[in-house]
Amino acid sequence: MPVKYDRLASHYDKRWRPYIDATLDAVFEVVDFQGNETVLDVPCGTGELAQRLLVEWPDLRIAGIDISKGMLARAKKKDVDNRVRWVEADVTEIPKIGQGFDCVICANSFHYFQTPSKALSAIHQALRPGGKFILLDWCDDYWTCKVCSLWLRLTDKALHRTYSLEACADLIEESGFQIDQSRRFRINFLWGLLLIECHRAD
Ligand SMILES: C[S@@+](CC[C@H](N)C(=O)[O-])C[C@H]1O[C@@H](n2cnc3c(N)ncnc32)[C@H](O)[C@@H]1O
Repeated sequence: MPVKYDRLASHYDKRWRPYIDATLDAVFEVVDFQGNETVLDVPCGTGELAQRLLVEWPDLRIAGIDISKGMLARAKKKDVDNRVRWVEADVTEIPKIGQGFDCVICANSFHYFQTPSKALSAIHQALRPGGKFILLDWCDDYWTCKVCSLWLRLTDKALHRTYSLEACADLIEESGFQIDQSRRFRINFLWGLLLIECHRAD
C-alpha cells in the first residue's frame, strides 16, 4: 500500500483534481468549527483537506496521518508555514497526540482498510469523549461504484472492500459511535459516495 501511493504521490492531485474537489466540498458541507478545535485527518494523503480547513479556520490545530511517505512528502511541501503536524502511521496504530481530538475526518480511504473495525477502534480512541467523526467513502449502493470496486478488487490488491451506507453505518455503531446524520450522493455518473457524521458515544 505505501508503495502504491508513494508511486502515485507526484501526480495524485493533478490526476484526481475534479474528484478531490467534489468529495472535499461534500466534507465541508458537514464540518462546522468554532475555530480553534483539534482535528485529525486520517489518512491525509497529499494534505489537501488540511490546507482547505486552514483557509477557512486558520486557528485549527491539525494533525495529518498517512502510511505513505510519498503522500506525506507532498503534504509537507504544501504546508509552507509548518502549521500541521504530519505523522507517518497506519490508521490502526494512531499515536497518542494531545488530549483527544475534537474531530477526526477520514475521506476517500475506508475501502483500503484491511481491518476496518481496528481502524474504527483506533479512531474512537483518538477522539475526546463526544468528539465528532466524519467518514466519506465510495458507496456500494450505486451499481457503477459496485462494478468499479469489483473490478479494482481484481486488479488492485490494496483495495479491501467498499460498503453500502447501511453496512458502513452498522460497523460504525458497533465501534462505539452514535450517528448524527448520514447520506449518499453521486458526484458524477461513475462515483457514488456515502457520508456519515457521528460522534464518540461514551
Ligand atoms: C485515495 S487517498 C485519499 C487521501 C485523502 N484523504 C484525500 O481525500 O485526498 C488514500 C490514502 O490512504 C492512505 N492509506 C491507505 N491505507 C492506510 C492505512 N492503513 N493507514 C494509513 N493510511 C492509509 C494512502 O497512503 C493514501 O494516501
